[in-house]
Amino acid sequence: MAEIVIVPDASSAGALVAGMILELIDARPDAVLGLATGSTPLAVYRALAEGARGLDVSRVRGFALDEYVGLPEGHPESYRSVIEREVVTPVGFDPRRIRVPNGAHETIRTAGAEYEDAIRAAGGIDLQLLGIGTDGHLGFNEPGSSLASLTRVKTLTEQTRRDNSRFFDSIDDVPLHCITQGVGTILRARHLVLLAFGEAKADALRAAVEGPVSASVPASAVQLHPHATVVIDEAAASKLDRAEYYRYAYENKPDWQGL
Ligand code: PGA
Repeated sequence: MAEIVIVPDASSAGALVAGMILELIDARPDAVLGLATGSTPLAVYRALAEGARGLDVSRVRGFALDEYVGLPEGHPESYRSVIEREVVTPVGFDPRRIRVPNGAHETIRTAGAEYEDAIRAAGGIDLQLLGIGTDGHLGFNEPGSSLASLTRVKTLTEQTRRDNSRFFDSIDDVPLHCITQGVGTILRARHLVLLAFGEAKADALRAAVEGPVSASVPASAVQLHPHATVVIDEAAASKLDRAEYYRYAYENKPDWQGL
């Protein structure tokens, strides 16, 4: 079972998870991070920027989870731009060591396999940050995605396009396609850290951690992983049946159990 940590708010989650990442970088200066985009991980990146001040993080490597297909280079909402703006610049990572799937039309047929090769060549991802979509998606693996899938092109659901239209002028500007690490890619990371905040995520979160493992809820794949940590606020936890048990387990967590 994933470890479920219920915290008061997003900034507490940010501090907790940034602490895990800093500990990892301290132990392994060339650690490989899996980076998520969207609103959810921003609290982690803010805390990380603060905690990394004065530290040498120039050897850290990173792989974004996903990217839109077909946005022009330099588009402010391309995940390449978002990762540079929200993570690389504030934290001080070396941009040459941070990769994002290539969503250019011209090379899209080979972009997935290339990304898989790059992750493999880096020795795999040490810690993968994840959000969850209101439809249960993981990365951009929409419901129905194979639990064994690798990095490839997917078609975004209307729900995801609607959710993400807040970053664009209108829903019509949200691309139809994306390239995303597959569920199988994500499961190869050594530690998964899934975050969710707010009531809007409560149903998806419950299905992911307490429902059956199913391609219909790609985030339920975290149940298959031997080392998954789910950090959520009270609102996202509000529909969980076993919330009291998760709190009890965390409060009584032995020191030797580690992160
Ligand atoms: P959000 O997206 O953080 O913007 O809510 C999460 C996701 O789609 O995985």
